[in-house]
Amino acid sequence: MEEINNRQVFPVKKRGLSINNKTNIIKYRFLAPVYDLIMGSPIFAGARKKGLGLLEFRPGQKVLLVGIGIGQDLSYIPGEVSVTGVDLSEEMLARAAKRKRGAELILMNAEELSFADGIFDVVVLNLILSVVENPGLAMAEARRVLKEDGRILVFDKFLPEGKEVSLIRKMLNIITSFIGTDINRRFSDVVRGLPLDIINDGPAGFSGNYRTILAVKRPLRALGDSKQTRRL
Ligand SMILES: C[S@@+](CC[C@H](N)C(=O)[O-])C[C@H]1O[C@@H](n2cnc3c(N)ncnc32)[C@H](O)[C@@H]1O
Repeated sequence: MEEINNRQVFPVKKRGLSINNKTNIIKYRFLAPVYDLIMGSPIFAGARKKGLGLLEFRPGQKVLLVGIGIGQDLSYIPGEVSVTGVDLSEEMLARAAKRKRGAELILMNAEELSFADGIFDVVVLNLILSVVENPGLAMAEARRVLKEDGRILVFDKFLPEGKEVSLIRKMLNIITSFIGTDINRRFSDVVRGLPLDIINDGPAGFSGNYRTILAVKRPLRALGDSKQTRRL
């Protein structure tokens, strides 16, 4: 594994990986070389820019990009912000490392982050909740590592609330899941029971199937805020 910023940044931690997440490693090994081609389109670039623009970054803030991929979000984050990116795919991370913007890159499972509680100002979950095996767990982990009043940005595709999954969508999902993403998840299921205030939830392309969501961390009322292991 190559060195970034003169140090080894992939402390491999594959403990507790589920089958789907293991499969993701294989899928994204193959997707890495073509990812920019597919996801670099102006529609996605525009949505990313708009979503990250909502965060109004301030110098010195600590930002975590979960499932950073090849680092397409980095273009929209100012240089004075400290960025950490995690991903399960070495191939995706290696491409992120080639981007101009320096970021600490770590091989890590979104469902089991190796960070202390409450250390980030912002966590970005772009196009990852539709990919990990247990999005609720990834969301709970994102919330755990956030400071109080820290913000979570999500740009992803979700099933419109209150809508049943159509047969065509079910069939399409067999193909998209095989490639590496689930189109039939509901955001309300992902965040159920998590103390978060949703302060923005708007359409971000493809007839509202993609959404940009901004949430603020609220304290847990009950005891035991550490290392949540909520499962859906
Ligand atoms: C659709 S891509 C999105 C990448 C990037 N966030 C973006 O907006 O372009 C999904 C990424 O999540 C990574 N991934 C999949 N499962 C993961 C997991 N359990 N933990 C961390 N990263 C994961 C994949 O390797 C891939 O880079």
